[in-house]
Amino acid sequence: MQYIPKPPAANLEEISEHLRIIEEKISSNELINWAITLKDDSKMIGTIGYYHIKPEHYRAEIGYMLLPGYQGKGYVTEAINLVVDYGFSAMELHSIEALIDPENIASARVLEKCGFIKEGHFKENEFYDGKFIDTVIYSKLNR
Ligand SMILES: CC(C)(COP(=O)(O)OP(=O)(O)OC[C@H]1O[C@@H](n2cnc3c(N)ncnc32)[C@H](O)[C@@H]1OP(=O)(O)O)[C@@H](O)C(=O)NCCC(=O)NCCS
Repeated sequence: MQYIPKPPAANLEEISEHLRIIEEKISSNELINWAITLKDDSKMIGTIGYYHIKPEHYRAEIGYMLLPGYQGKGYVTEAINLVVDYGFSAMELHSIEALIDPENIASARVLEKCGFIKEGHFKENEFYDGKFIDTVIYSKLNR
C-alpha cells in the first residue's frame, strides 16, 4: 500500500465492509475485480481489475496489486496484457487509464512495458495523510 493513497484496512470489520462494497459494485457493473493466481495453484497472489468504469466515455481505470513475495517476476505485466485485451474486446473500451504515484517506478515500468503512454503529471492534486501528493496518469488507446 506504500504508493496507494488509501489507509490499509485496520481490522476484519473494515475488510468485510470493503468486500461488501466491491461485491455491490460488481453487481451494478461499476467495477470488475479479478484474482491473480499462478497457473498451477488457486491461491490468490494479487488482484487486478477495472475500478472506475465510465461507459459513456468507453473508458475505464485499471488497477493492480501483488503480494510482495511475488513481485518482480513479470506477473503483473502478463496480467495487464490480458485485462487490456478483455477491455478492448469484450468491454469495447476505447481507452484505459492508470493513475500512479510518480515514485512508484515498478508500476510506471510495467505500464510502459504494456504500451501505456505517460500523459500527465498533476502536481499536489490530492490530499492524503496530511500532505498534498502528485498523480501521474498513463493511458492506452484502442488502435
Ligand atoms: C507495481 C507492481 C504491480 C508491479 O508488478 P510486478 O509483477 O512486480 O511487475 P513486473 O515484474 O512485471 O515488472 C516490474 C518492472 O519494474 C522494474 N522495477 C521494479 N522496481 C524498480 C525500481 N525500484 N526501479 C526501477 N525499476 C524497477 C523491474 O525491473 C521490472 O522491469 P523490467 O522487466 O524491465 O526489468 C507490484 O510491484 C505491486 O503490486 N506493488 C504494490 C502495489 C502497487 O503499487 N500497485 C500499483 C498501484 S498504481
